[in-house]
Amino acid sequence: KDPAPLDLKQYIREVPDFPKPGILFYDISTLIRNPEAWQVATGRLAQAVARFQPDILAGIESRGFLTAAPLATRLGCGFTMLRKPGKLPGKTISHKYSLEYGEDELQIQADAVTPGQRVVVLDDLLATGGTLAASIDLLRKAGAEVVGASVMIELLALGGRKKVDVPVTSLLTYED
Ligand code: PRP
Ligand code: MG
Repeated sequence: KDPAPLDLKQYIREVPDFPKPGILFYDISTLIRNPEAWQVATGRLAQAVARFQPDILAGIESRGFLTAAPLATRLGCGFTMLRKPGKLPGKTISHKYSLEYGEDELQIQADAVTPGQRVVVLDDLLATGGTLAASIDLLRKAGAEVVGASVMIELLALGGRKKVDVPVTSLLTYED
């Protein structure tokens, strides 16, 4: 329940030429540090995610943790971490995926989800969709039923949602 409509884009700082020349970086630091705006943002995202009726939320290291953890608390779901290699103790499942230049890898603990559990994946931002698609592949390897994905910010020009074969919701979209 929003007290008044709040334009969340006003709280996202746009940083030109970061991390590389020509890239416009959408910085959620300025959203997270404003308690009212962050409360509204997580509330709106929680509404979207609740429709998927998840048992557990998965957050993608690292900014996806910020997005997923408060929602798990609001929705009364579990929360699990998809991490960069070598960070999780015990038996893990890995998934390697290719990027524009080179390879990357994500891991999950082998017992993080029980087979058939309904999982929603969370991240801060959808760009090319490579990270989200790889996360869904990894969750399926772990036995999850991935029922949806949600992000705060979607960069429409990159068409990332085409790579993702589950329903995707985004709070804020940008054309460029
Ligand atoms: C950023 C962002 C998403 C991903 C989106 O993460 O947080 O996870 O890139 O890009 P894609 O749709 O093209 O895959 P980054 O790798 O910068 O790491 P961080 O979350 O640890 O900051
Ligand atoms: Mg990230």
